[in-house]
Amino acid sequence: MGALMRRYWLPAAASVEVAPGSARRVRILGEDLVVYRDTQGRAAVIDERCPHRGTSMATGCIDAEGIRCPYHGWKFNAAGACLETPAEPEDSPLRTRVRAKAYPAEELGGLIWLYMGPDPAPLLPRFDLFVWDNCVRDIGVADLPCNWLQIMENSVDPHHLEWLHGHHLAHVRSAKGQAAPTHYLRHHEKVGFDAFEFGIVKRRVLEGGSEADDDWTIGHPLVFPVMLRVGSHRQHRMQIRVPVDDTNTRHYWYACYQPAPGQRVEPQPAVPVYQVPWRNPDGSYIVHFVDGQDIMACVSQGPIADRTREILGSSDAGIALYRRMLLEQVDRVSQGLDPLGTVRDPARNTIIELPQERDKYRKGGAFLGESIRMGHAQFSPLKERILELLSV
Ligand code: FES
Ligand SMILES: [Fe+2]
Repeated sequence: MGALMRRYWLPAAASVEVAPGSARRVRILGEDLVVYRDTQGRAAVIDERCPHRGTSMATGCIDAEGIRCPYHGWKFNAAGACLETPAEPEDSPLRTRVRAKAYPAEELGGLIWLYMGPDPAPLLPRFDLFVWDNCVRDIGVADLPCNWLQIMENSVDPHHLEWLHGHHLAHVRSAKGQAAPTHYLRHHEKVGFDAFEFGIVKRRVLEGGSEADDDWTIGHPLVFPVMLRVGSHRQHRMQIRVPVDDTNTRHYWYACYQPAPGQRVEPQPAVPVYQVPWRNPDGSYIVHFVDGQDIMACVSQGPIADRTREILGSSDAGIALYRRMLLEQVDRVSQGLDPLGTVRDPARNTIIELPQERDKYRKGGAFLGESIRMGHAQFSPLKERILELLSV
């Protein structure tokens, strides 16, 4: 699975988390890395350990060309080539034999993406919400102590909407004397899953709705291998689950909000990042909001859920399909083929539109306001601006 995961571009950090001339330690796919931005503003990713004697590059000196190890001053460029070994004799050929492990990095939509797989790297897919102009964006993050797969499986589990976010949320909130949204309570009459170019489209028909609703005709996709697209109307989101290692995941809630037709918003100088809280000071889960509930449901399965002890029912068809597709992609990669969703054609990559309901649950603006007030976006520094932008 690691070999498959390395065939996709993954976010290494939010752009604002790495200022020019600064570095940030990250752990991705079990590797300790340093994301830094040179003084020309270019982001790069290098192995945390210096190839000389292993000191961390995280406190290195960064200039216009690259990063210099703090210990003996060996200097590397973004490709990992060694530019200087200052303590060695002037004519030493040592630096020509030295290479630091480095990975290609690109920025898109306020995120720094990296590619950890074999050459040639595919294109970084330009999914619509990362590319659109005239919108307001923000990025929520949380570091979760569980394997990425159990979080992703939640993305193809439509029934939990009515139980976890419907009945359970109503139960928890009523105990606190708080109101709960009613639109999550509707029973799922029917769910459907279809493989498509970038993953799986998830569909539902809710009680009182029909197959003419966006929830069924459009649905929304799990985007291989670690993203979920959700939203409604002028609100578009990508939940991204970056495997830190086998038992940790960095969760991004990437959001893009569009103004009403004909309106313009000021370009953002930077896309802000905020933390999404999920644990109380006593260690218990925060379950009176939607995303906190999802986190509880995934993290409480344990660091790596034990699938030998689970019991799948017919309502778990989406999970079974996702697992099957992941294993098919592992086979493709082991045969030397590109996995699902690999983009190599620049013409295809101008902008890649993803399907997403326009009127989720046929609830109009009522859904938008509640989804912001009862979800991760309530913690955004832009919350009030977003509510105003969406007029809810
Ligand atoms: S350990 Fe990095 S230059 Fe010596
Ligand atoms: Fe959920």
